[in-house]
Amino acid sequence: MNLAKEDYPVSVQFDFEKGEFSPYQKRVERKLSDLSMMFQAKGIVDKMLEKEDPVIYEIFYYGYQTSISDMALGVTRIQPGTIGDEYFMTKGHFHAAHDQPEIYFCVKGEGYLLQETIKGEFQVEKWTKGTISHIPPMWAHRVVNVGTGALVFVASYHLAAGHDYKPVVKRGFSKRVVAENGKAAFIMNKQRE
Ligand SMILES: [Fe+2]
Repeated sequence: MNLAKEDYPVSVQFDFEKGEFSPYQKRVERKLSDLSMMFQAKGIVDKMLEKEDPVIYEIFYYGYQTSISDMALGVTRIQPGTIGDEYFMTKGHFHAAHDQPEIYFCVKGEGYLLQETIKGEFQVEKWTKGTISHIPPMWAHRVVNVGTGALVFVASYHLAAGHDYKPVVKRGFSKRVVAENGKAAFIMNKQRE
């Protein structure tokens, strides 16, 4: 079988200090205005957006499309901070293809990986630098940064997995992660009541 141009090996270099790799194909910014519906304190979000629209997280992305397969590499860098008392987090998603899993590798910072099925089974993984999590098919996933610095994680999945944000936008996850006396605490998501 003849190899096509896209069938040759490719490497990128990860920078542990910055929490990004290069070269990348795409860098996506998620600002507060992109995530306003995900936070509980809508009043605080609206007030903040009158003054500024901070970047909550960025994704560095490389899609490896060969002639017979596909694979994606993503690095996500979540800034530290809260909206009201709720920690900065990723939007969260299901995979559009329900048979597709993913690997997440926390390389910097501390936080939580929230996972939930469509039926509402919920599981939390505590993350520190070095935690590697397997996200099975059928579990929505969101990462929350509860530390004082950036939280950075590496993701690897098939491009064919796709993203389905709709259920998460509509109902969130069953628990929210908030700061109580400077420590992370889990509270019920009122959208579910
Ligand atoms: Fe995913």
